Amino acid sequence: PKKVTLGYLQSLKGRRDTAITTLTAYDYPTGRQCEVGGIDICLVGDSLAQVCLGYDSTTRLTLDEMIHHAKAVSRAAKRPFLVADMPFGTYLESKEKTISNAIRLIREAGMESLKLEGGEEIKDTVYELTRVGIPIMAHIGLLPQRHVALSGYKVQGRDASSAVKLFRAAKELQDAGAWGIVLEAVPHRLAAYITQRLHIPTIGIGAGRECDGQVLVWDDAMGLWAGHQARFVRQFAQLGHEASRGVTEYINAVRHRSFPDPIQESYEIEDTQWTEFL
Ligand code: KIV
Ligand code: NA
Repeated sequence: PKKVTLGYLQSLKGRRDTAITTLTAYDYPTGRQCEVGGIDICLVGDSLAQVCLGYDSTTRLTLDEMIHHAKAVSRAAKRPFLVADMPFGTYLESKEKTISNAIRLIREAGMESLKLEGGEEIKDTVYELTRVGIPIMAHIGLLPQRHVALSGYKVQGRDASSAVKLFRAAKELQDAGAWGIVLEAVPHRLAAYITQRLHIPTIGIGAGRECDGQVLVWDDAMGLWAGHQARFVRQFAQLGHEASRGVTEYINAVRHRSFPDPIQESYEIEDTQWTEFL
């Protein structure tokens, strides 16, 4: 399996017979699973804040925390295309600050592309980053970094005016140079419409099956997240249950003194008369 490149991802645009597979990864083991399983895009999402670090919102995540985790993912995932979220507030202050923050994610963390949340209001930022040679992924629809401004995590683009706004934003971001776009929590007909009218790949999450690819949060897809589950989540494994079972089994074995096994799981002394040397 060859290294996933932007050219390869672009070649999957509009292909009905295949789709771009994307999963989030946050550390060496999850990056490793994406590598071994043959995932196309590994996204070090800022969902890292909640699922790995226990924060209540992605807005808490710092650039240093993102870099620390993205580094571990890049050590594990070699074939997948590597994308990281620019954390909240790291692409707002000034053009210079945005570029230097972006460069840290590329140079220090080994990311190949960065994702930014926002509509036409961030098109200049997308343009500037693209211009210095950093491939940018756009992200529209539900924007978790703005959950307070949006009054919660809600489906976007349900009425005609917001649907039209999202379509226009997608076009503007494409024109600004984004190579691809995440559509989060938007009606499937709107996502299909946007997908048909853009020449860059769309990656959906809660956006129906007509997108050029799909993305899910690792912990959601693997059944590791015990909190709220969005409508669009499907659990493809139940690792949380399996881990709980393992912890209970371990506790029982330790308490019943059936672990460790004296032969299989323990070491023997060579000199059995060793106490005579005391
Ligand atoms: O942070 C994240 O996990 C994401 C994806 C769900 C698109 O942005
Ligand atoms: Na994100």
